[in-house]
Amino acid sequence: MTGPQEAATRVVHLRRGGTSVVLRLDPEVLPCVLHWGSDLGDVRASELDGLLLAARLPESDSVMYRQEAVSILPQHSTGWLGRPGLLGSRDGTAWSVAFEHVTHRVDEAGTDGWPDGPDGAARLVSIGTDHACKLLVTTELRLLASGLVALRATVTNEGADRYEVNHLEPALPVPDAAQELLDMTGAHAHERVPQRHRFEAGQWMREAWGGRPGHDSATVLCAGTEGFGFRRGTVWGVHLGWSGNQVLSAERHTAGWRLLRGGERLLPDEGTIAPGTSYSSPWLYGSWGRGLDEFSARFHEYLRARPQHPTSPRPVVLNTWEAVYFDHDLPKLLELAEAAAALGVERFVLDDGWFHARRDDTAGLGDWHVDEDVWPDGLNPLVDRVHALGMEFGLWVEPEMVNLDSDLARAHPDWVLQTEHGPGLPARHQHVLDLGNPDAFAHVVDLISGLVKQYGVAYLKWDHNRPLVDAGHARTGRPSVHAQTAATYRMMAELKDRHDGLEIESCCAGGGRLDLGIMEYADRVWVSDCIDAHELHRLLRWTGLTLPRELLGTHVGAPTDHTTGRRLSLDFRAGSALFGHFGVEWDLTAAESGELDQLRTWIDRYKQERTLLHTGTVVNADLDVPGLELTGVVARDRGEALYRLSALEHTVTTPPGRLQLPGLDPDRLYLVTCAATTHAPDGVGVRPTMPWAREGVRMTGRLLEQVGVQAPALPVDALVLIRATAI
Ligand code: DGJ
Repeated sequence: MTGPQEAATRVVHLRRGGTSVVLRLDPEVLPCVLHWGSDLGDVRASELDGLLLAARLPESDSVMYRQEAVSILPQHSTGWLGRPGLLGSRDGTAWSVAFEHVTHRVDEAGTDGWPDGPDGAARLVSIGTDHACKLLVTTELRLLASGLVALRATVTNEGADRYEVNHLEPALPVPDAAQELLDMTGAHAHERVPQRHRFEAGQWMREAWGGRPGHDSATVLCAGTEGFGFRRGTVWGVHLGWSGNQVLSAERHTAGWRLLRGGERLLPDEGTIAPGTSYSSPWLYGSWGRGLDEFSARFHEYLRARPQHPTSPRPVVLNTWEAVYFDHDLPKLLELAEAAAALGVERFVLDDGWFHARRDDTAGLGDWHVDEDVWPDGLNPLVDRVHALGMEFGLWVEPEMVNLDSDLARAHPDWVLQTEHGPGLPARHQHVLDLGNPDAFAHVVDLISGLVKQYGVAYLKWDHNRPLVDAGHARTGRPSVHAQTAATYRMMAELKDRHDGLEIESCCAGGGRLDLGIMEYADRVWVSDCIDAHELHRLLRWTGLTLPRELLGTHVGAPTDHTTGRRLSLDFRAGSALFGHFGVEWDLTAAESGELDQLRTWIDRYKQERTLLHTGTVVNADLDVPGLELTGVVARDRGEALYRLSALEHTVTTPPGRLQLPGLDPDRLYLVTCAATTHAPDGVGVRPTMPWAREGVRMTGRLLEQVGVQAPALPVDALVLIRATAI
């Protein structure tokens, strides 16, 4: 960082993790980004002034035709004609914010007033005062050690009456070179389908109104140079750290600006602030990279540096859902536990169906005590055996939800979120419990906490199966999506406070809630309800844009997938799950002994590889052969790497050409071998017969990345593992 640290500062340069952010600081305007992206090096103050001068526009009769700079919270009062960053009013007045003065303060980690936190960030805090509107508007931009930008805004009501914030959406500008947009869409059990189009004039807006990011969540909104890939082009993008209603948008304004922004979607009155109180937007995270791998690496590095990030070896999981569904039968579950332990499973998770009246999904949610009919001795016979077998015990819960057919809903109908028209449509026969109600909150947290204590639960699989529509407080009638989201965070935090070491998985009917807001509390996400290994390739690749692999729950399912009906070989299923937090979700009591032996081998392999897989750098190749996918993890010291080449479509029957292995140290020599071959269903074998695969080949990282090795021809839904070891 260079530049003085007071309000008169004109330009400030923040540098971290290969990223520079240069901001223009004016006495009456919130900060304006002059550069966000590649590290500019140690720039002298005079050069920064030059940068400012170089950005000046030709003289014109109106600043409104062409804005020289647009702030990180764009305001119409400065001449910006696009979407404002803040929109609100005091009963119809005070809706156009302008500042008499703005103070800017730059902090470096370790200096006064800015403790040296684990993120080693630089921070710019700017406070704009609008006396006429009686508002203070604060923006806070942090440049984290990984080069990730975190940005948020706060509005404080200095007046004597209420002020309603309608939206508060900070923005980051990207250069004109960003010609192409990328985000995700999808549906339940088919999440994170990438979509791309040109960054045309106008707005591209991706909203979530269901009280969670949702299965069609954009997840990220990226803008990059034409044809950008994982290792080609340059890309900038944003992600919102919030688990409730939200928007990510890209705006290309005719005045020449391209902005990426995001914020919470507030329902009526949710943004109303009483005198002396504030509303803050969620953190908007911005990353950039020479390709998506570098863009992702900034997220991964940031997440891994947090004190709460799981660092113990990620245990092999057995989850009971697709093995038994609601059919809870103690002997069968004990048999499953024995089979799991014999394979080396380390965490046994009892899924939905264990609590009062929960024989199917129509009843019981909210009654968080063990069903007396199915479990006459409580969960003890199972839990004791699981513990005796050396496994941790995990339990499924859905604390935010309630079935109307439950003792809880019958006793407290006013604890169900609702409007004047009642609780609205059910989804999966369920409604949402009002956790903003302190009584409802205390009731649920105490029951779940009691179970965790009684059964020594190490892990909660935390589901969330109904979107929050018609979600209002029964008594006040006011919308409660914001309050519910905040209460969910509080509940997760409180359970973790009460139970040291407790881990939580954010399940949300599969991948509906895996934003950086919930990841403050969750240790794993369930990436999708679809565990088909073929689909898992797409899910891992794109969920991995923000989350590192150790946080992504990936399970080996039954030979015929329960969601897609696709029949896949065990090697393909396990080799796919290997690249996440590995688990099994299959009725092992029905598996053949050969299959169990094969699965044990994969579990052993996962245990050998998990340190590399969960601490290394994720790489993805931009292969030009459609249907072939190469991903890998390179150790941080680049001493070794494990790659996976998969054929997901029928590609070619003759060898498909050279395979470049990315991410290695260009100057080191590596031994490259085929670590495993796998088989498509029905015994179609993969036998890489290239000499290098049989005998290994020694090549430098440079040659491997730039020239590559001959790729094997694979049948559809087959994969090979390739290992590179520095010698
Ligand atoms: C949806 C989850 O995603 C599944 O894994 C399972 O836990 C079911 N809910 C249980 O009802």
